[in-house]
Amino acid sequence: MIIAIDGPAASGKSTTAKLVAERSGFSYLDTGAMYRAVTYAVLQSRVDLADEQGLAEWLALQDITQRWEKGTCRVYLNGTDITAAIRSPEVTRRVSEVSAIPVVRQAMVRLQRTLAAQGDYVVEGRDIGTVVFPDAEWKFFLVADDETRAKRRQKDLEQLGIHQDISELVREIQERDRKDSSRAHSPLRKAADAIEVDTSHLTIAEQVQFILNQIKQPLTKETS
Ligand code: DC
Repeated sequence: MIIAIDGPAASGKSTTAKLVAERSGFSYLDTGAMYRAVTYAVLQSRVDLADEQGLAEWLALQDITQRWEKGTCRVYLNGTDITAAIRSPEVTRRVSEVSAIPVVRQAMVRLQRTLAAQGDYVVEGRDIGTVVFPDAEWKFFLVADDETRAKRRQKDLEQLGIHQDISELVREIQERDRKDSSRAHSPLRKAADAIEVDTSHLTIAEQVQFILNQIKQPLTKETS
């Protein structure tokens, strides 16, 4: 079974998705981390983003994996732990550009489908309910107001020892949403059959419980 959790930047997807996975015994897949890992790899390399063929060949050589270790989801690129590096402001600034490239999306969607075919998964991202798993049994679309999202992002960054002003974070989040929603391929969009959850005034425990209550109910829509 797939539980898709989509939504804009810093809407509470990761925290919620991880806890829903833990409580329901599902595996967890962070597709944003995969696009961040590609962006990090691009920044480390001399690969030409305009050369589709070359980029596709280079991507096929990159080994991106995620593993649960001591309660955290760690991300590896070709065997190196890049969990902290993919949250850097530079990766965050470039990730919308890299993730809008069709060959990047094709490679990542293929990988996401292969990984999640292995069992029950909570998959978080931007296009999970619309493109990657349009037949997902459950789809949630998380939203929150800009100020709340910027405050959450600031807290996450502070844990990594990075300080950024709220106003700067609001601008960055809005800019990333604009790019992610307006791109030609798989833009950020709520699936017609997704349940919208506004997390602005919910605690983490409340948003997790809301989703757990929903998925306990029998499915009302047909599944394939
Ligand atoms: O969830 P996040 O902020 O870590 O995601 C980083 C970026 O990755 C986001 O700005 C757009 C891209 N992304 C995407 O294009 N498709 C997904 N399914 C997940 C993320």
